[in-house]
Amino acid sequence: MITRRRFLANGAVVATAAGVKLPVWATGINVARAAAGPTAASAAAVEHGLLLGVDYYPDQTPESLWPEDARLIAEAGLTNVRVAEFAWSLMEPSEGKFDFAWLARSVEILHKHGIEVILGTPSAAPPPWLSEKYPEILLVNSQGMTVQPGGRRFTCPTNKVYRKLSLAIATEMAKTFADTPGVIGWQIDNEFTLQQWGRCYCKYCRTGFQDWTKRKYGTLDTVNQKWGTAFWSQVYTEWKQIPVPLPSNGDPNPGLALDYDRYQSYANASFAEEQLAMLRKICPRHFVTTNNVGAPLDTIDLRELFRNLDFVCHDNYPGFVQIFFEGGKMPPEQVATVVALGHDSMRSVKDGKPFLIMEEQSGKAGQSFFGPQPHPGQLRLWAFQAVAHGAMGVNYFRWDTAKFGAEEYWHGLLNHDRSKSPGFDEIVRTVKELKSLGKAGLESRYVAETAFSFDLDSDWALSIQPGNRKLSYAAQLMVWYGSVASANVGTDLIRLDGDLSKYKAVFAPVQYVVSAKQAENVRNYVRNGGVFVTNFRLGVKDESSQIVDMPLPGLLRDVMGVTVKDYVPIYNEKIGVQFGTELAGQDAECALWADLLTPQTATVLAKYTGAYEGAAAITVNAFGKGKAVYIGADLDAKSLARVLQALLAVSGSKSAFGAPTGVEVTRRQAGEKEWVFVLNHGAEAQKVMLPGKFKSALSGDAFDGSVTLRGFDAVILERQ
Ligand code: GAL
Ligand code: ZN
Repeated sequence: MITRRRFLANGAVVATAAGVKLPVWATGINVARAAAGPTAASAAAVEHGLLLGVDYYPDQTPESLWPEDARLIAEAGLTNVRVAEFAWSLMEPSEGKFDFAWLARSVEILHKHGIEVILGTPSAAPPPWLSEKYPEILLVNSQGMTVQPGGRRFTCPTNKVYRKLSLAIATEMAKTFADTPGVIGWQIDNEFTLQQWGRCYCKYCRTGFQDWTKRKYGTLDTVNQKWGTAFWSQVYTEWKQIPVPLPSNGDPNPGLALDYDRYQSYANASFAEEQLAMLRKICPRHFVTTNNVGAPLDTIDLRELFRNLDFVCHDNYPGFVQIFFEGGKMPPEQVATVVALGHDSMRSVKDGKPFLIMEEQSGKAGQSFFGPQPHPGQLRLWAFQAVAHGAMGVNYFRWDTAKFGAEEYWHGLLNHDRSKSPGFDEIVRTVKELKSLGKAGLESRYVAETAFSFDLDSDWALSIQPGNRKLSYAAQLMVWYGSVASANVGTDLIRLDGDLSKYKAVFAPVQYVVSAKQAENVRNYVRNGGVFVTNFRLGVKDESSQIVDMPLPGLLRDVMGVTVKDYVPIYNEKIGVQFGTELAGQDAECALWADLLTPQTATVLAKYTGAYEGAAAITVNAFGKGKAVYIGADLDAKSLARVLQALLAVSGSKSAFGAPTGVEVTRRQAGEKEWVFVLNHGAEAQKVMLPGKFKSALSGDAFDGSVTLRGFDAVILERQ
């Protein structure tokens, strides 16, 4: 685990008939409402502008400065703020005594300056009186250590007291601000996915898990069978005997451990649902969402968390990627790819619906140390990249720079002395440019020809039992994504049981768990002409995390046309891979894993050299109208990129734009209109070939056949 890491049917029709113009994303509100009951009709009655704003902390700013703040925020062209998500101790100084007067005054000042307000419910950081009085709310980490108050997200998602008090303050807030002019929506909590210790293992979670297991399986016989409790004498005869996977001098039962990860996702999602149900009732005219970090961070199933929320929000900090990956040495072009994966994952949570950046980096990143200084142009580039991948708006983090607290090093739009930050003017320009794209541009649909499976069962099950100590789902996903992303053909992150038909190629790295439904869906996809590319450890496990009792790759053996003769974790053996003519190229190195393949109906594309000489390493199978490719070897990154790009070409997916490495090209469409985003993530100027005549949607400049971008520059093009 890496740490820190449908549109409407009836509702919109009714609203449209009533003359209410709905922003694209607001349409989801109706779906949720319809499910939530009678308040459906009033859904999304509030129309408001583009969400281009800033995260603002009146709770940390002297009141005398609020009017100036509001004026400056408005002058910067920003039209909304998010406030109060960490202000519980000011809003409820002691149990049951609420004080929202200060917040109401702040909202009023902001509103006077034309700034709309997103309110954060404060459950991510309960006040000292609460944790002192009710220490049972504290999270217990995977080592059994009680996490202490003093930071944030130190709470148990199951604990009833914590849930009750979180709901109580959110309810009081909702009642206070339901009809306050200027208030447009809600962020529930803050970053459920923040994950130094992303899961709780306390006694309340244990009871919650036992109840959840009972609801899922019905009988203990089923549980015992699904988890295989005959092993190590674990047969449960009463629900209350079921443990949580805390240290036990021996690894946990893999089935139990996987279900526990699912339970923790459910616990967080159902915690959010409690606040959501209340907000739907009391504030039917407001949107409701929550913010998150995207893939490859992974402790919560975001599809579950966001199911009934109106749209997805994501916090975008390329600076964190810079700090935390590869010891800060990752070049900007690669940082951009990890960030792109995050955006694509977030857009995919609601199947392509535009998402909001609730926190966008506005200066140097930092908590106890600083991240690298953003280069001139990079702040604009990063915001454009988010929009290029489907964001409908951007909220900068944060307005001022804190002079106290754990994030004094996080630079906002104002410096510590309230002078304008080095990035201020660049942000003002970016906001102006994004506004000029208008609603149509910001709410248009991202175009994707390919898809990646982002499979939490495989991810979680493989974290529980990596097979090879160094094997990680997230790392595999990142390197595969990076290999394909540079082709600029657009990539969604999907589940293999979803609609695959619109993709020319589907990539599924380490799809360790395969369900019967997924297998059938993949079978149909390939049969109907799709190209399915996968690799080692395919279909090893079923959804209960039991190893399948059939030759590997299990349920997909017919589609892949191969049998895994043996599988080999690689540690210090030197294993090579030699390519046949179809993929001709230099021999590759095989790093962590080698599935030794025997083709049935498949053709061999590459073979192993060294100890496993002769065994097939990569195969392609013609199945129905499509093709299924099995990459048995963990190829070095360069060879993998070459192979995946070659397979992409086989699928017929090809960008019409000729972009050098480090330059991203994405497309967004609305009806007949298309916006092409060209993003140069490198420091050097780059030339991009264009298929015809284009003009800049921002400056109006015309380009015929090519466009040259300075380092860290971005352009948005429209076809002439
Ligand atoms: C986010 C979080 C913010 C702030 C920011 C900068 O993850 O939601 O509250 O901490 O990071 O570190
Ligand atoms: Zn707990």
